[in-house]
Amino acid sequence: MAVALVLTGCTHGPRRAEPGSTRPAAGSAFQPGAEGIGDPYFPSYGNGGYDVAGYGLKVRYDPSAKRLTGVATITATATAALSRFDLDLSGLTVESVTVNGAPATSARNDDELVITPATGLAKGARFSTEVHYSGVPRPISSPELGDNGFLATPDGAIALGEPESASTWFPVNDHPLDKATYDIEATVPSGLVALSNGVPRGTIPAGAGWTTWRWSERSPMASYLSTLVIGKYRVDQATHAGKPMITAVPDSLPADGPAARSVAATGTVIDYLATQFGPYPFDSYGGIVVSDDRIRYALETQSRPVYGNTFFANGVNEGVVAHELAHQWFGDSVSLARWADIWLNEGFASYAEWLWTEHTGGQTVRQRFTAEYAKAKWTQPLLDPGKEGIFSPYVYQRGPLAVQALRMTVGDEKFFAILRAWTGERRNGNGTTADFQGLAERISGQRLGKFFTDWLSGSLPPPIPR
Ligand code: ARG
Ligand code: ZN
Repeated sequence: MAVALVLTGCTHGPRRAEPGSTRPAAGSAFQPGAEGIGDPYFPSYGNGGYDVAGYGLKVRYDPSAKRLTGVATITATATAALSRFDLDLSGLTVESVTVNGAPATSARNDDELVITPATGLAKGARFSTEVHYSGVPRPISSPELGDNGFLATPDGAIALGEPESASTWFPVNDHPLDKATYDIEATVPSGLVALSNGVPRGTIPAGAGWTTWRWSERSPMASYLSTLVIGKYRVDQATHAGKPMITAVPDSLPADGPAARSVAATGTVIDYLATQFGPYPFDSYGGIVVSDDRIRYALETQSRPVYGNTFFANGVNEGVVAHELAHQWFGDSVSLARWADIWLNEGFASYAEWLWTEHTGGQTVRQRFTAEYAKAKWTQPLLDPGKEGIFSPYVYQRGPLAVQALRMTVGDEKFFAILRAWTGERRNGNGTTADFQGLAERISGQRLGKFFTDWLSGSLPPPIPR
């Protein structure tokens, strides 16, 4: 499910000619799909010329050999007449590829898997690609963004990361513009668990000491929100508001410790956030705590965030739970169309921490605004912070300040109407800063151009709205 990357304005419109789509050329009808979807920060992320509807992933992971074997079945629609197309795949060895059941040729070009089907794909045609692959997965590492992707652990593995991670364990159109459904089967040694996104579909024996765990996420999901966690975990399966809730904590952590107690707040936090943001957007709930020195962050993996245990070093931490669960609305259900708009994710998720603190009797949102405003630095822009800056501390500090400033500008009633319209109208879709401003102006009846310029791009503290 893709929408065109249009830097301003509505992203629901038809795909237009731009760097992420296949350039039409005179003469030959079938042209190669672009190797990137057109994100200015990460030009190689995603690909052009097609739109994935669903991934069927069957992976087998042997922790002793650190080896993964996979079959990915990717159902897509050509958005241009394609002679060939790319998938993103980092490392790993491709053994064979078929398109619509017919053998296709494939070549590797860095992290691009270039697939040439036996015959061209007509624009609008639905096609199915099957990739057989294997190898020892490696994370993608950079000084600014850390180790993202598949990490082998002593008892299993943890696959997660933002802004990219999926391509380290399956071939993918790796950009939030192309959201898709996922059916994930992971076969692991019996005695280990294999957790992923969405609704559990049970476990089945896979012969001689192996078990297959099945999961499905049927709401469109951005690829960076996929996760796979394999190892020794205590898994709690419950029902919340009629939907499955799966929480898990490593066996090595106490059952009544701060990590377990924090994740146990998931249902309560979700129910509160739904009163502020509108109905919870997915079919399942949960949370997974991981205890690995390399994961010093939490990530809003769809329907089931992953929390690094460092967040619970000083005791119960419901703030991080509120943050990651708020992302289920802001980031997961309504996704970025380009990474430069990261404040739309982190601003609202951080604002949810303020809301939760006030709701549970702590500092009020107003008090927090005053305190953070006094500390804020205005040396870098919140909108378009640079690709190395997407997770810099000021995004998390200035983001919620801008959100609260909007609330003070338009008033509580209009503010919450804007949030609910955003999550309602764009559910399962994407949105840009320009889209958000347009919506805020429509609902508030105010012109907010100067407001957004001041709070998102200004280099001086804007006046506090009264
Ligand atoms: N979206 C995540 C959060 O704010 C941030 C992930 C940061 N990634 C990293 N490698 N530090 O919850
Ligand atoms: Zn966040």
